[in-house]
Amino acid sequence: MSSIITLANLAGGTSKTTTAHNLSVAFTEYGKKVLLIDLDAKGDLTFILGKESARVTIADLLTDKASIDSGVISTPERFDFIPGSSNINNVSQQETFANLLSKCSPKYDLIVLDTPSTPSTALFMALEVSNSILYPIQLTVSSFRGAHRIRSLIKPGIKHLAFLKTDSSRNENLEREIMHDFELLDCEIPMSKELLDNESSSSSVLSSFKNSAISSSYRELGYSILEKLSLI
Ligand SMILES: Nc1ncnc2c1ncn2[C@@H]1O[C@H](COP(=O)(O)OP(=O)(O)OP(=O)(O)O)[C@@H](O)[C@H]1O
Ligand SMILES: [Mg+2]
Repeated sequence: MSSIITLANLAGGTSKTTTAHNLSVAFTEYGKKVLLIDLDAKGDLTFILGKESARVTIADLLTDKASIDSGVISTPERFDFIPGSSNINNVSQQETFANLLSKCSPKYDLIVLDTPSTPSTALFMALEVSNSILYPIQLTVSSFRGAHRIRSLIKPGIKHLAFLKTDSSRNENLEREIMHDFELLDCEIPMSKELLDNESSSSSVLSSFKNSAISSSYRELGYSILEKLSLI
């Protein structure tokens, strides 16, 4: 059975999509088989990976219009990917999605879900099937609140992992609150020029800037998640 990990935060721009991509590469580097799925109707991840003209999307798989094999794309960075659809919220159905994932499950150690910042059917569908939620949190009240609102919606028995996306400023009170409500991972993702320079590339920063500090940070984050999930 694969472990299903969902990137979530109702605050926009907290790096859910960037992290979903970079972690999928990091997990793959650690020898894991990874399936990444774009569940955001905006399709940012699908755009970044250069798959906007894919013939089959997650919406086709959820409505049985295509076979799983025709919808899963192998990427040059060695993880598999299912492209997103602007129609996802009209066809999201938790039971159908759970069935789809259970068919994919034997092939993968991890399934990574990228979700939107809006409280939508696709987001709730993802939260329902997840074993763990990973919250990227910046040290701002809106980012903490965006994570907290999701945390309060979720059934018990799910791991609530969080990491800080930091710039130079700190906020000790907010950090204490985050630690109280989430399992805060011991690695932070700093602001990075390489990530910005890499924005027009379909490869992750781990491939384009292999030896950069940001790539090491994402590898450390990946390793600590694998430890938390007992996958390493
Ligand atoms: N560590 C970082 N350093 C610098 N820029 C970053 C970093 N992480 C993400 N970004 C940039 O911030 C922007 C927002 O990131 P991203 O799209 O991953 O956020 P998101 O949470 O998925 O947004 P949305 O809520 O719109 O889906 C992107 O332009 C991305 O390249
Ligand atoms: Mg996004």
